[in-house]
Amino acid sequence: MAEKIGVPIPAGAASAALDFSGKVALITGAAQGQGRQVALELAIAGADIVALDVGKRVEYPAIQQHPDDALLELQREVEGLGRRLLVGLADVRDDTAVSQVVDAAIAEFGHIDILFNNAGILGYAEVDTISDEALNAMIDINLKGPMIVTRRVSPHMKAAGSGVIINNSSIMGLRGGNRLSHYAASKWGLVGLTKSWAIELAPFGIRVVSIHPTGVNTQMNDSLAEMEGSNAVEIGERSAGNLLPTPWIETEDVAALVLWLASERARYVTGAQFAVDAGLLSA
Ligand SMILES: NC(=O)c1ccc[n+]([C@@H]2O[C@H](COP(=O)([O-])OP(=O)(O)OC[C@H]3O[C@@H](n4cnc5c(N)ncnc54)[C@H](O)[C@@H]3O)[C@@H](O)[C@H]2O)c1
Repeated sequence: MAEKIGVPIPAGAASAALDFSGKVALITGAAQGQGRQVALELAIAGADIVALDVGKRVEYPAIQQHPDDALLELQREVEGLGRRLLVGLADVRDDTAVSQVVDAAIAEFGHIDILFNNAGILGYAEVDTISDEALNAMIDINLKGPMIVTRRVSPHMKAAGSGVIINNSSIMGLRGGNRLSHYAASKWGLVGLTKSWAIELAPFGIRVVSIHPTGVNTQMNDSLAEMEGSNAVEIGERSAGNLLPTPWIETEDVAALVLWLASERARYVTGAQFAVDAGLLSA
């Protein structure tokens, strides 16, 4: 057997609690749902947080508004854990605003180690009647947004010689969905970004992966009920494709995967897609 590569790994490392002390994570869409949960879990594990969110209603039908002070509430919670949280109000489509948040983060913390490209929207539309507004919002927020944010964050990771970028796609980034072509296109696009950035950034010690959740119990799922005029139980029934008997998964299930991927335990994991789908994609 050859000598082990890199920093020696002590026995028990795989079973020890994850430790993100000294790390800084920038999370988009951090005001609620999966982004908020990942921010909290990373802070509990020792990271400081840059919480980026649009902070006002996204002009798109049926997207739930979070309270204006949601980021401040998250800041209070993270500070209560003894960590720091920088609030970054920005629309991921707005390069100037995103740049200001990234510059402020570097001024405050000096580095960004983890980027969770998570902000996104969902909507239904038929291919022959989709409006320009719906098409542009979907592609600009879900696909161009991560490109804009990563364009501003990656130079700092390159300079540091390390970093992890996690793109929140969806099961719809690995399959199709009825009246969901614009959403699926944006989420499949994230797979292309993931694989291409993995190639481009590996020489700089930066890993890039995508995650693919099935339905998650967030306000986005609630808004589906509004959009389709159905209720949460019916939404659950539509998740019947889940092999494991659950209508949806929780934000904690997503956070558990994100934290592992962001950790050193995944140090040779890059370019790959990770489903947390209750088995849906297997059927
Ligand atoms: N909920 C699900 O069932 C599900 C399943 C798979 C994947 N996803 C994906 O997970 C991600 C997070 O979704 P969620 O379930 O937490 O939804 P959510 O609606 O609860 O949260 C999304 C957050 O993104 C923010 N956001 C939206 N547009 C933005 C913009 N232009 N700029 C900055 N912030 C913006 C919102 O303000 C909100 O805080 C999304 O990309 C979504 O497509 C969701």
